[in-house]
Amino acid sequence: MAGRMEGKVSFITGAGRGQGRAHAVKQASEGADIIAVDICEDIPSVPYPMSSWEDLQETKALVEKTGRRCVAVKADVRIREQLKAAADEGVAELGTITTVCANAGVLPLAMGDPQPLDFQDAVDVDLIGVMNTVAVTVPHLLPHGRGASIIITGSTAAQQPHSFASEPRQIMGSGGSGYGWAKMLIIPYVEHMAMHLAPHGVRVNGVHPTNCDTHLMHNQGIYSVFRPDLETFNVAKEDFAVAARHYHAIPEAWIAPEEVADLVLYLASDESRAVTAENIRIDLGVVVKGLPSR
Ligand SMILES: NC(=O)c1ccc[n+]([C@@H]2O[C@H](COP(=O)([O-])OP(=O)(O)OC[C@H]3O[C@@H](n4cnc5c(N)ncnc54)[C@H](O)[C@@H]3O)[C@@H](O)[C@H]2O)c1
Repeated sequence: MAGRMEGKVSFITGAGRGQGRAHAVKQASEGADIIAVDICEDIPSVPYPMSSWEDLQETKALVEKTGRRCVAVKADVRIREQLKAAADEGVAELGTITTVCANAGVLPLAMGDPQPLDFQDAVDVDLIGVMNTVAVTVPHLLPHGRGASIIITGSTAAQQPHSFASEPRQIMGSGGSGYGWAKMLIIPYVEHMAMHLAPHGVRVNGVHPTNCDTHLMHNQGIYSVFRPDLETFNVAKEDFAVAARHYHAIPEAWIAPEEVADLVLYLASDESRAVTAENIRIDLGVVVKGLPSR
């Protein structure tokens, strides 16, 4: 039986681990070839490590295990020339790009000495990096019309009354604020690009996860935000999980990367051919839980 991504080639940023790896493996298991892109080096203002080259190679091996092809390229989404080179290298080997997952992201929570320009670092990756990804891939997508799909990863962190955009606590610093601001702007960006690309048939949608079981969440910055009652930067995983379960309407602490990948697979496949300009939360009900009752 044909897979749901048969004949497609997916360009995925932040593919070295976490949600990006889950997208790569899920889409490959449904028949897609994958261009897997990651920075593979650390960013000084981000207090947890980025993926390594070995991580990206592991993603490639997992894709190849499904029987599909994978071109793995080290590139920084902040640098459009690097992304263009990655797209060109992938196309030279795999033939085309039909699908884009603009997934790479960082949350530079201040865990040491917060710097005003941490804001810029977050925006450069989480907003400009997304725009660069779309810019270099759209020329490849246009010939595919309605077979083409762009999926952009935002965050429910930007959709709550006390979001990272307005978080006053020192721990969030300007990096947390930049994250919230960038992720907030993903919503209208998705709508604008969906309208601009609609005449060509290309679809653009956003997915907005809550806490997801990856490095971006499992670090003392996030743990301390959730447990201001405990000693900052010394919070146990289970103490974080207790608060995270209470935070969601469905009382679970986090979602799995594979759950986000299921939603992204739907948006990437032709099953969603009529779906565009949507911003879809995958959030255990957290945003609605936090709204004033209607
Ligand atoms: N984990 C969560 O709780 C959560 C919640 C909501 C939204 N998100 C979003 O989900 C997306 C995926 O993150 P994740 O949860 O898998 O975290 P993660 O840290 O495990 O993965 C992010 C990946 O992006 C890569 N990356 C970072 N900066 C890059 C750059 N400049 N160029 C290329 N690659 C870069 C990293 O090396 C890493 O492999 C991000 O956009 C993130 O903001 C995560």
